[in-house]
Amino acid sequence: MGASLLPSPPFLVALLFAMSCLCFFPEIRLQNVTRLYHTKSAITVNGKFPRPRIVAREGDRLLIKDTSILGAESHPLHLHGYNFFIVGQGFGNNDPNKDPANFNLVDPVERNTVAVPSGGWLAIRFCADNPGLQNVTRLCHTKSAITVNGKFPGPRIVAREGDRLLIKVVNHVQHNITIHWHGIRQLRSGWYDGPAYIAQCPIQTGQTYVYNFTIVGQRGTLWWHAHISWLRATLYGPIIILPQRKASYPFPKPYKEVPIIFGEWWNAELEAVINQSLQTGGGPNVSDAYTINGLPGPLYNCSTNDTFKLKVKPGKTYLLRLINAALNDDLFFSIANHTLITVDADAIYVKPFKSNIILITPGQTSNVLLKTKNRSPNATFLMAARPYSTGLGTFDNSTSAGILEYEQPANSSSSTKIKNLPLLKPTLPSINDTSFAANFSKTFCSLANAQFPAIVPQRVQKRFFFTIGLGSSPCPKNKTCQGPSNVTKFAAFVNNISFTLPTTALLQAHFFGQSKRVYTTDFPKTPLFPFNYTGTPPNNTLVSNGTKVVVLPFNTSVELVIQDTSILGAESHPLHLHGYNFFIVGQGFGNYDPNKDPANFNLVDPVERNTVAVPSGGWVAIRFLADNPGVWFMHCHYDVHLSWGLGMALVVMDGKLPNQKLPPPPSDLPQLHEIRIFTCIFIFFSKKKFISTFIFFMQIRLQNVTRLCHTKSAITVNGKFPGPRIFAREGDRLLIEVVNHVQHNITIHWLVEMLVTFFKCLGTFQENHQKKD
Ligand code: C2O
Repeated sequence: MGASLLPSPPFLVALLFAMSCLCFFPEIRLQNVTRLYHTKSAITVNGKFPRPRIVAREGDRLLIKDTSILGAESHPLHLHGYNFFIVGQGFGNNDPNKDPANFNLVDPVERNTVAVPSGGWLAIRFCADNPGLQNVTRLCHTKSAITVNGKFPGPRIVAREGDRLLIKVVNHVQHNITIHWHGIRQLRSGWYDGPAYIAQCPIQTGQTYVYNFTIVGQRGTLWWHAHISWLRATLYGPIIILPQRKASYPFPKPYKEVPIIFGEWWNAELEAVINQSLQTGGGPNVSDAYTINGLPGPLYNCSTNDTFKLKVKPGKTYLLRLINAALNDDLFFSIANHTLITVDADAIYVKPFKSNIILITPGQTSNVLLKTKNRSPNATFLMAARPYSTGLGTFDNSTSAGILEYEQPANSSSSTKIKNLPLLKPTLPSINDTSFAANFSKTFCSLANAQFPAIVPQRVQKRFFFTIGLGSSPCPKNKTCQGPSNVTKFAAFVNNISFTLPTTALLQAHFFGQSKRVYTTDFPKTPLFPFNYTGTPPNNTLVSNGTKVVVLPFNTSVELVIQDTSILGAESHPLHLHGYNFFIVGQGFGNYDPNKDPANFNLVDPVERNTVAVPSGGWVAIRFLADNPGVWFMHCHYDVHLSWGLGMALVVMDGKLPNQKLPPPPSDLPQLHEIRIFTCIFIFFSKKKFISTFIFFMQIRLQNVTRLCHTKSAITVNGKFPGPRIFAREGDRLLIEVVNHVQHNITIHWLVEMLVTFFKCLGTFQENHQKKD
């Protein structure tokens, strides 16, 4: 299979923790608890309410030694996320000196729910090896967040260009999960790209998927994040790609490298936020804070201790690896009194340029050099990130901050002194400074030298023109919505089509030739109804829905112009293409002019990226060569717009040569559920786990049936006309006893002609937010 063709040695990302053992002795007892002037006797653990916390790391062994209950009735106790062994039980009080001697440590029953005996006790044991959920506290709010290895933000992945990465993802939480390696080209490894229902079915609870890909021709900073619903709010982390051994940076080697990952924090449960938005049709609640490396910083209430500090030495160069992992907001970033030199964008080198302020959209990454002052200054410096926002909706208008702190010379009594130093603050552009945004994005050019050439497609075989923006969809009957009006819901579109996520994975459907009923290939090349895109918006803002794709033959050179629209307000959109980098050959405000604008395209050294900010009320032109077979999602990297349907997919066909084809999927690819529909209303679900025998009785008798005012005595099965349905699953055994009560001889023929087969991802579809009700 494809994997064995890859020459470089496997680079295994393994995150191991030292094993340690935590012991916990919970006593379940009654305790008086007073709330709202009422005192009641509550069942508590160790007399505490709320119960005491159990803090554990992956690999920890958690021994809940003796659990005794002093209540008077039996309680079915259930533990989420684990099975436990019931090692002992008895009546009366548990005796910690005597009872453990009788514990069954050989073959105790393993359950997730147990009845604690009335007036007795129970001892259970389990190993706390489930790191999925982790309590995270920010802004004085604690919530249970889905994490990777218990870390928030998630762990770093450090690799070199050319490395092969094998990453085993084990899902210990109740939610379906996929992980996307944002910006990794995934050359002929689209099975490992990650977007749910595009590249793969989600990884179910308790299941595992090994992502397996090689980093080819990329070096710099990328990142990984969950790619299902809004779970990436806490599931994200950096991918640091070092140059190959012996290769060097095209700039002076930095003294140190520091990832700076911007995020967005909600006190509320994220799934509730987006589910509510999709139900009401209104905009989702905005975040409570932005974060720098997971920390909101001192400008928020109850957050001073959660401040990212960058301690530096004077006279050195630091490489900051910036990543915008925020869900819905572009961010300005600046460090007081310091200039930054941008050297790379989306893991491609650029011609270095200086600026005091950086603008970065969700999905983008950028490496910048920070030269520290030659001497430790008598000040500390605030680094601040706050939004650039152009839409009409509300947004989180707050500022995340970290602190740049110089090491003080040895002769000064340092720590007290740093505290007394003045803190200098940067100035950031105004919230909607679109001209800053336009000028800043124009300063990016590919390095385009002999070693790192910019291979821009000079000739174009296929041209596309996509409009993007917000629109509306009708509110379900007899409901009021909170969309743009009370009879509509917000929707988002590409060429007026709001993308509907399928319930199977597009790539599987494509690869196995099962695209029927999953997607159609009629995605329009240009808008079906042209209008003045950035002028007065049309009255009809309704979008249509569909799972439509563009099919591209292998190695097609493509030019795509993406045009923002002012339908519900012009807005900047970070457009991300999976599986590719593209060259940004042109951009401008207003409507794109196909006769005039191409003359100004930069085909020499345009910047190469995977995510582009389409200017608010403007357009961008991108070019790329479709040399990576597979199915590739292209979507707005604002999660809210993605949930509303601002996306589409490209199907890039295999080439003729063996190395131009997508290899078959790995055996652990999350499974599909096959559904076969037979004629004569027999519905068969195939799921091998549930093979069973089906017994059915058929009484053949006469029954009066009236049609067209004529009554006749008809031969029926069980008195029904038409006859009863038989439901079964593929693989089931059917035993059907036929009893003939009529004067005719009877036989029954089992017509199980197949009508159609289709596939769905296994499991629930609750995260497959679609605008149906
Ligand atoms: Cu960073 Cu489709 O995602």
